Amino acid sequence: MTVRFTVRDVAVSDLASCASLLSSRHRRDRSRNSLLPSAFESTQQCLEILQSLFHQPATDGAVAEIGSEIVAFMFGQQSLHAADHWLAQYFPPRVIGIPLHGHAGPNNDSIVPSYRALYGHLADRWTASGFFDHRVDFAATDEIQRELWFELGFGALTKYAGRKTTSIDSNPIHQEITIRQAMLEDHAEVERLEKINSRFHHLGPVLWPFLWKDVRESASGLSKYALSRDRHAIFLATRQAETLGMQILFSGMAFGPQIATREQSVYLFHAIVESNSRGEGVGRALLKHALDWAHDSGHSTMTLHYAAMNQVGESFWENHGFETIVYSAGRHIDERLSWARP
Ligand SMILES: CC(C)(COP(=O)(O)OP(=O)(O)OC[C@H]1O[C@@H](n2cnc3c(N)ncnc32)[C@H](O)[C@@H]1OP(=O)(O)O)[C@@H](O)C(=O)NCCC(=O)NCCS
Repeated sequence: MTVRFTVRDVAVSDLASCASLLSSRHRRDRSRNSLLPSAFESTQQCLEILQSLFHQPATDGAVAEIGSEIVAFMFGQQSLHAADHWLAQYFPPRVIGIPLHGHAGPNNDSIVPSYRALYGHLADRWTASGFFDHRVDFAATDEIQRELWFELGFGALTKYAGRKTTSIDSNPIHQEITIRQAMLEDHAEVERLEKINSRFHHLGPVLWPFLWKDVRESASGLSKYALSRDRHAIFLATRQAETLGMQILFSGMAFGPQIATREQSVYLFHAIVESNSRGEGVGRALLKHALDWAHDSGHSTMTLHYAAMNQVGESFWENHGFETIVYSAGRHIDERLSWARP
């Protein structure tokens, strides 16, 4: 029997029902991945985060009902990314983001038709406003979500992964190299390695645009900020006068989904080793140093993003105990939709 949903725009009075759906989903997500924070098992916490989302500008939301019962909801936010901002490397200029806390539905088969109905309702509005890139975050362990977004035309873009900051063993290369915290005087080296990182991601199978010239000033502002604050850190691995690799870490900054990030978390923004020094243990030595620093400075977890197609990165992170927490998936709609009309 086909279940019939009614879909309409969300109202502030719906948020309590949405919060209840979200906290139930979060409890299920958390039963499969203990890295998720416990706070959002509370319906009250979910209500607060949804109220904040509801009141943000350029946010659209809808609920799906059976009779008068809300069984699913979805929110998406319009974001504009300036071409010269460092974020332009990771996001198209006009993009809809459906955040991890921006959707939830029933824990049964009707989740698929309810999400299709909700996305259909909202996506017509988004494309009519010139938003042809749509992104969604969902729990990596949720196979139903993975399948349903795949069937809505979305493909994996990045993974948000994490682990505890417990130490890892030292490796032999530690005797040959020095790992030290970079200072402002090292900024040219930091930029050189960031550029190598962008070059790596330009190659297949990742195939991200190489926007270094456009975003350099903004990226430089961010790395200088990291160098100038005690709570963040950039570590360099050197052998004699040569810099072999780098890791950039930010403390307490929300680079990842809010409901998938514990407090006292540190974010590993970039990890890069010179191409001719990869596979010798430099990355591992840097990671050990970063984990020990993070642990000693009061962080219990470390998180990071990597491109879903990056085999080199994925093996490295998985072999060093990182678990995928969240998938970001995306869909690009054919722009001819806007003029090729019935
Ligand atoms: C990912 C990256 C930072 C890892 O640094 P690295 O120095 O190559 O890492 P290591 O050498 O410590 O480990 C890499 C592999 O070499 C192996 N290895 C380490 N020491 C070794 C040695 N002495 N001899 C042979 N193999 C060795 C490790 O087992 C490891 O295998 P695994 O990835 O399957 O676990 C690096 O490969 C890199 O810069 N990649 C391109 C950019 C990138 O992908 N960045 C991360 C995305 S966010």
